[in-house]
Amino acid sequence: MQTTLSYALHTPRLIVRMIEESDLPDLYQVFSDEAVTRFLPYITWTDTLAAHSWYQRVKEMAAQAAAMQCVIVDKESNKVIGACLLFRFDTECERCELGYALAQPYWRGGYMAEALRALLTHAFGEMAINRVEAEVDPRNPASAQLLRKLGFTQEGLLRQRWKFKGEIKDTWMFGLLRDEWQAAKGAN
Ligand SMILES: CC(C)(COP(=O)(O)OP(=O)(O)OC[C@H]1O[C@@H](n2cnc3c(N)ncnc32)[C@H](O)[C@@H]1OP(=O)(O)O)[C@@H](O)C(=O)NCCC(=O)NCCS
Repeated sequence: MQTTLSYALHTPRLIVRMIEESDLPDLYQVFSDEAVTRFLPYITWTDTLAAHSWYQRVKEMAAQAAAMQCVIVDKESNKVIGACLLFRFDTECERCELGYALAQPYWRGGYMAEALRALLTHAFGEMAINRVEAEVDPRNPASAQLLRKLGFTQEGLLRQRWKFKGEIKDTWMFGLLRDEWQAAKGAN
Protein backbone atom coordinates (compact mmCIF):
# COMPACT_ATOMS: atom_id res chain seq x y z
CA MET A 1 0.00 0.00 0.00
CA GLN A 2 1.36 3.43 -0.98
CA THR A 3 1.18 5.49 2.24
CA THR A 4 2.50 8.81 0.97
CA LEU A 5 0.85 11.35 -1.31
CA SER A 6 3.23 11.76 -4.22
CA TYR A 7 1.28 14.74 -5.56
CA ALA A 8 -0.97 17.43 -4.14
CA LEU A 9 -4.77 17.05 -4.25
CA HIS A 10 -6.60 20.13 -5.50
CA THR A 11 -10.15 21.15 -4.67
CA PRO A 12 -11.83 24.44 -5.62
CA ARG A 13 -10.57 26.27 -2.49
CA LEU A 14 -7.92 23.98 -1.04
CA ILE A 15 -4.78 21.96 -1.57
CA VAL A 16 -4.21 18.78 0.42
CA ARG A 17 -0.57 17.70 0.44
CA MET A 18 2.03 15.91 2.59
CA ILE A 19 3.25 17.87 5.61
CA GLU A 20 6.62 19.68 5.56
CA GLU A 21 8.56 21.02 8.55
CA SER A 22 8.05 24.59 7.27
CA ASP A 23 4.28 24.13 7.89
CA LEU A 24 4.79 24.14 11.67
CA PRO A 25 4.31 27.91 12.23
CA ASP A 26 0.91 27.83 10.49
CA LEU A 27 -0.01 24.60 12.27
CA TYR A 28 0.86 26.25 15.57
CA GLN A 29 -2.14 28.53 15.02
CA VAL A 30 -4.31 25.42 14.72
CA PHE A 31 -2.99 23.22 17.53
CA SER A 32 -2.37 25.94 20.12
CA ASP A 33 -6.14 26.48 20.29
CA GLU A 34 -7.80 24.47 23.07
CA ALA A 35 -11.10 24.44 21.20
CA VAL A 36 -9.36 22.54 18.39
CA THR A 37 -7.45 20.06 20.56
CA ARG A 38 -10.26 19.41 23.04
CA PHE A 39 -11.13 15.99 21.61
CA LEU A 40 -7.75 15.15 20.13
CA PRO A 41 -5.51 12.65 21.91
CA TYR A 42 -2.61 15.08 22.28
CA ILE A 43 -1.85 18.22 24.18
CA THR A 44 -2.55 21.79 23.16
CA TRP A 45 0.69 23.28 21.86
CA THR A 46 2.00 25.97 24.17
CA ASP A 47 5.48 26.34 22.70
CA THR A 48 7.46 25.44 19.60
CA LEU A 49 8.98 22.45 21.40
CA ALA A 50 5.55 20.79 21.44
CA ALA A 51 5.23 21.45 17.71
CA HIS A 52 8.63 19.99 16.94
CA SER A 53 8.16 16.88 19.05
CA TRP A 54 4.77 16.29 17.36
CA TYR A 55 6.54 16.63 14.01
CA GLN A 56 9.20 14.11 15.08
CA ARG A 57 6.46 11.60 15.87
CA VAL A 58 4.84 12.29 12.49
CA LYS A 59 8.16 11.60 10.77
CA GLU A 60 8.71 8.40 12.74
CA MET A 61 5.24 7.13 11.85
CA ALA A 62 5.80 8.04 8.19
CA ALA A 63 9.11 6.13 8.22
CA GLN A 64 7.22 3.07 9.47
CA ALA A 65 4.47 3.62 6.86
CA ALA A 66 2.11 3.90 9.83
CA ALA A 67 0.60 7.30 9.01
CA MET A 68 0.13 9.67 6.10
CA GLN A 69 0.04 13.17 7.63
CA CYS A 70 -1.27 15.84 5.28
CA VAL A 71 -1.93 19.54 5.62
CA ILE A 72 -4.76 21.60 4.18
CA VAL A 73 -3.74 24.80 2.41
CA ASP A 74 -6.17 27.65 1.71
CA LYS A 75 -5.48 28.64 -1.90
CA GLU A 76 -6.59 32.22 -1.34
CA SER A 77 -4.16 33.01 1.49
CA ASN A 78 -1.64 30.22 0.77
CA LYS A 79 -1.78 29.42 4.50
CA VAL A 80 -2.00 26.02 6.13
CA ILE A 81 -5.39 26.06 7.87
CA GLY A 82 -5.66 22.48 9.02
CA ALA A 83 -4.44 18.94 8.91
CA CYS A 84 -5.81 15.54 8.00
CA LEU A 85 -4.28 12.12 8.17
CA LEU A 86 -4.74 8.48 7.37
CA PHE A 87 -3.21 6.14 9.94
CA ARG A 88 -3.37 2.66 11.52
CA PHE A 89 -3.02 1.10 8.08
CA ASP A 90 -3.92 -2.58 7.90
CA THR A 91 -2.63 -3.70 4.52
CA GLU A 92 -4.15 -7.16 4.68
CA CYS A 93 -7.62 -5.83 5.45
CA GLU A 94 -7.18 -2.75 3.21
CA ARG A 95 -8.29 -0.59 6.13
CA CYS A 96 -7.15 2.62 7.82
CA GLU A 97 -8.30 5.36 10.17
CA LEU A 98 -9.01 9.01 9.43
CA GLY A 99 -8.21 12.05 11.59
CA TYR A 100 -8.58 15.80 11.00
CA ALA A 101 -8.49 19.27 12.57
CA LEU A 102 -9.17 22.75 11.21
CA ALA A 103 -8.27 26.23 12.48
CA GLN A 104 -11.24 27.66 14.33
CA PRO A 105 -11.78 30.74 12.10
CA TYR A 106 -12.57 28.36 9.23
CA TRP A 107 -15.12 26.16 11.03
CA ARG A 108 -18.56 25.70 9.45
CA GLY A 109 -17.43 26.86 6.03
CA GLY A 110 -17.48 23.41 4.46
CA TYR A 111 -13.67 23.35 4.33
CA MET A 112 -13.06 20.03 6.03
CA ALA A 113 -15.74 18.26 4.00
CA GLU A 114 -14.07 19.64 0.85
CA ALA A 115 -10.60 18.48 1.93
CA LEU A 116 -11.75 15.04 3.05
CA ARG A 117 -13.66 14.39 -0.17
CA ALA A 118 -10.34 14.71 -2.00
CA LEU A 119 -8.48 12.59 0.54
CA LEU A 120 -11.13 9.85 0.58
CA THR A 121 -11.28 9.74 -3.22
CA HIS A 122 -7.52 9.19 -3.17
CA ALA A 123 -7.74 6.58 -0.39
CA PHE A 124 -10.44 4.50 -2.07
CA GLY A 125 -8.90 5.01 -5.52
CA GLU A 126 -5.09 5.10 -5.78
CA MET A 127 -4.51 3.58 -2.35
CA ALA A 128 -7.10 0.84 -2.91
CA ILE A 129 -8.39 1.06 0.63
CA ASN A 130 -11.65 -0.76 1.26
CA ARG A 131 -12.70 0.62 4.64
CA VAL A 132 -11.98 3.91 6.39
CA GLU A 133 -12.75 4.23 10.09
CA ALA A 134 -13.07 7.29 12.29
CA GLU A 135 -13.54 7.59 16.03
CA VAL A 136 -15.51 10.48 17.46
CA ASP A 137 -16.08 11.65 21.00
CA PRO A 138 -19.88 11.69 21.53
CA ARG A 139 -19.52 15.30 22.73
CA ASN A 140 -18.15 16.40 19.34
CA PRO A 141 -21.22 17.01 17.12
CA ALA A 142 -19.23 18.87 14.46
CA SER A 143 -17.06 15.83 13.79
CA ALA A 144 -19.99 13.40 13.81
CA GLN A 145 -22.03 15.57 11.45
CA LEU A 146 -19.04 15.99 9.12
CA LEU A 147 -18.67 12.21 8.86
CA ARG A 148 -22.39 11.65 8.28
CA LYS A 149 -22.32 14.27 5.56
CA LEU A 150 -19.45 12.38 3.89
CA GLY A 151 -21.51 9.16 3.94
CA PHE A 152 -19.99 7.42 6.97
CA THR A 153 -22.20 5.08 8.97
CA GLN A 154 -22.30 5.46 12.74
CA GLU A 155 -21.65 1.82 13.62
CA GLY A 156 -21.53 1.70 17.36
CA LEU A 157 -20.51 3.14 20.68
CA LEU A 158 -17.29 1.78 22.18
CA ARG A 159 -17.59 2.43 25.89
CA GLN A 160 -14.67 3.78 27.92
CA ARG A 161 -12.31 3.07 25.02
CA TRP A 162 -9.85 5.89 25.80
CA LYS A 163 -8.19 7.37 28.81
CA PHE A 164 -6.35 10.63 28.23
CA LYS A 165 -6.29 14.21 29.50
CA GLY A 166 -7.48 12.86 32.85
CA GLU A 167 -10.74 11.48 31.46
CA ILE A 168 -12.18 8.13 30.51
CA LYS A 169 -13.90 8.54 27.16
CA ASP A 170 -16.49 6.71 25.10
CA THR A 171 -16.09 6.80 21.33
CA TRP A 172 -18.45 6.50 18.40
CA MET A 173 -17.05 4.27 15.67
CA PHE A 174 -17.84 5.45 12.15
CA GLY A 175 -17.05 3.48 9.00
CA LEU A 176 -17.15 4.12 5.27
CA LEU A 177 -16.67 1.45 2.58
CA ARG A 178 -15.21 1.80 -0.90
CA ASP A 179 -18.44 0.49 -2.49
CA GLU A 180 -20.45 3.14 -0.66
CA TRP A 181 -18.05 5.91 -1.67
CA GLN A 182 -18.10 4.84 -5.31
CA ALA A 183 -21.88 4.44 -5.35
CA ALA A 184 -22.20 8.01 -4.08
CA LYS A 185 -19.64 9.35 -6.58
CA GLY A 186 -22.00 11.86 -8.12
CA ALA A 187 -22.66 13.37 -4.70
CA ASN A 188 -18.96 13.53 -3.80
C1 LIG B 1 -14.71 18.73 13.11
C2 LIG B 1 -14.23 19.87 12.20
C3 LIG B 1 -13.03 19.39 11.41
C4 LIG B 1 -15.36 20.22 11.22
O1 LIG B 1 -14.82 21.05 10.20
P1 LIG B 1 -15.71 22.08 9.38
O2 LIG B 1 -14.92 22.54 8.20
O3 LIG B 1 -16.27 23.08 10.30
O4 LIG B 1 -16.86 21.14 8.86
P2 LIG B 1 -17.79 21.46 7.63
O5 LIG B 1 -18.02 22.95 7.56
O6 LIG B 1 -17.26 20.74 6.44
O7 LIG B 1 -19.16 20.87 8.13
C5 LIG B 1 -19.49 19.53 8.07
C6 LIG B 1 -20.86 19.36 8.68
O8 LIG B 1 -20.77 19.48 10.10
C7 LIG B 1 -21.68 20.48 10.56
N1 LIG B 1 -21.11 21.16 11.71
C8 LIG B 1 -19.97 21.88 11.75
N2 LIG B 1 -19.78 22.34 13.00
C9 LIG B 1 -20.83 21.89 13.74
C10 LIG B 1 -21.19 22.02 15.11
N3 LIG B 1 -20.43 22.71 15.97
N4 LIG B 1 -22.32 21.42 15.54
C11 LIG B 1 -23.09 20.69 14.68
N5 LIG B 1 -22.79 20.52 13.37
C12 LIG B 1 -21.67 21.13 12.92
C13 LIG B 1 -21.84 21.40 9.38
O9 LIG B 1 -23.02 22.16 9.48
C14 LIG B 1 -21.87 20.41 8.24
O10 LIG B 1 -23.09 19.73 8.14
P3 LIG B 1 -24.29 20.21 7.20
O11 LIG B 1 -23.69 20.55 5.86
O12 LIG B 1 -25.18 19.02 7.21
O13 LIG B 1 -24.85 21.42 7.86
C15 LIG B 1 -13.85 21.13 13.02
O14 LIG B 1 -14.94 21.46 13.82
C16 LIG B 1 -12.62 20.92 13.89
O15 LIG B 1 -11.49 21.05 13.44
N6 LIG B 1 -12.84 20.59 15.19
C17 LIG B 1 -11.70 20.42 16.13
C18 LIG B 1 -10.87 19.18 15.83
C19 LIG B 1 -11.70 17.92 15.94
O16 LIG B 1 -12.57 17.80 16.79
N7 LIG B 1 -11.39 16.95 15.06
C20 LIG B 1 -12.09 15.70 15.00
C21 LIG B 1 -11.60 14.75 16.00
S1 LIG B 1 -12.52 13.21 15.82
